[in-house]
Amino acid sequence: MHVTFLHPDLGIGGAERLVVDAALALKENGQYVDFVTTHHDPNHCFTETKDGTFKVTVVGDWLPRHIFGKFFAFCAYVRMIWAALYIIFQANHPDIVFCDLVSICIPFLKLCIPVVIFYCHHPDQLLTSSESRLKKFYRLPLNFFEEITTGLADKIFVNSLYTKSVYKQTFRRLNADFTEVLYPSINTSFFDQVYIFPLERILDKRFNSDTCFLLSINRYERKKELSIAIKALADLKKYLSLEEYANVYLIMAGGYDKRVEENVEYYLELIGLADELGVTEKVFFLRSPTDAEKVSILVNCDILIYTPPNEHFGIVPLEAMYVSKPVIAHNSGGPKESIINNVTGYLVEKSTFSEKLSILVKNKSLRLQFGAAGKKYFIDKFSFKKFSNCLISSILDTYINKNQ
Ligand SMILES: *[C@@H]1O[C@H](CO)[C@@H](O)[C@H](O)[C@H]1NC(C)=O
Ligand SMILES: *[C@@H]1O[C@H](CO)[C@@H](O)[C@H](O)[C@H]1NC(C)=O
Ligand SMILES: *[C@@H]1O[C@H](CO)[C@@H](O)[C@H](O)[C@H]1NC(C)=O
Repeated sequence: MHVTFLHPDLGIGGAERLVVDAALALKENGQYVDFVTTHHDPNHCFTETKDGTFKVTVVGDWLPRHIFGKFFAFCAYVRMIWAALYIIFQANHPDIVFCDLVSICIPFLKLCIPVVIFYCHHPDQLLTSSESRLKKFYRLPLNFFEEITTGLADKIFVNSLYTKSVYKQTFRRLNADFTEVLYPSINTSFFDQVYIFPLERILDKRFNSDTCFLLSINRYERKKELSIAIKALADLKKYLSLEEYANVYLIMAGGYDKRVEENVEYYLELIGLADELGVTEKVFFLRSPTDAEKVSILVNCDILIYTPPNEHFGIVPLEAMYVSKPVIAHNSGGPKESIINNVTGYLVEKSTFSEKLSILVKNKSLRLQFGAAGKKYFIDKFSFKKFSNCLISSILDTYINKNQ
């Protein structure tokens, strides 16, 4: 079969990783897979999209992305429709189109593509704030079209049960029972092959052998609530002896782009917060670590602290589980599905991070036990093989049903 992935901007991010992984899975399964996108920058994309693994066709990149700094969503819709028209006017059009993020292209694709699959990372309309009345007015028809066109897909995947529940509340005209949860996965062979740097080298400091490293990995964005990790570290003092506390350090690592104002501001704010709480000596801030560094700090840390509330799914807990680390996360969103409370980690409220953290800091054997349980749960439920099997069988079923 010929499967085309239609994706708006094939850069580097969670959504892009997911479509590339899905494409790899289908290719390994023997299908012919290619990409159509409205933007692709070889200096800012995943390797698989530029090393010839997949043919990538860029169409409509000349269309504007915004009109005087406004109407981004409207322009994205026009660009995607253009790309969809390109696909249907090709001489040999694909048997299946897999699209995500922007659903407006679906009715156009349906004109001649037998099976259209849509992956819903999260309803698009919830990702933009519409505080002004004018913006609300402008979003109204767009939201309506998002809902109607999403419903036209032959198969809709969502990234978690949490997103499914949000889908249900947002798209009231659609039946959420028709969606299927397809959890994203991670490429574990990269974790297995990569050279692991010692922490001393990454942090440029020497540590005792019984040091306990807490780790937070997330982009420097306010909605990720990274400050929770720093506050938890400061509060931990209440639960530990001086000696125990002296051996605890926190590593804050995350994507950082100096052109993004929020990243710059929030990073400085967090440094300020650490100072205010008197834990500057205990916190290491890393900006945009390389993939090898990221895996190295995961492997060398003792506990992962995952702070964002209402995360749609959350890949970092999976990565930590794969390298056998316990995870403490906010009791909301996707982590409720990836973490088993009191077995692979703890699901907590904002104010109880430090309390649960102290239990793990004090007890190494419990950390190892939770870590081992996490790895097992990852392999049972979130492995790449699981992702791949679920994707392929569900796409083939849809295809066969349509062609009967
Ligand atoms: C995973 O990573 C390995 C090593 O980096 C690479 O060779 C392989 O193609 C990747 N596989 C997938 C499915 O991403
Ligand atoms: C956590 O698990 C342990 C051992 O399985 C059990 O003894 C304990 O009561 C549990 N704690 C909570 C809060 O559920
Ligand atoms: C540490 O955790 C283990 C479970 O792995 C438990 O049996 C033990 O009682 C705990 N130790 C303390 C001091 O709480």
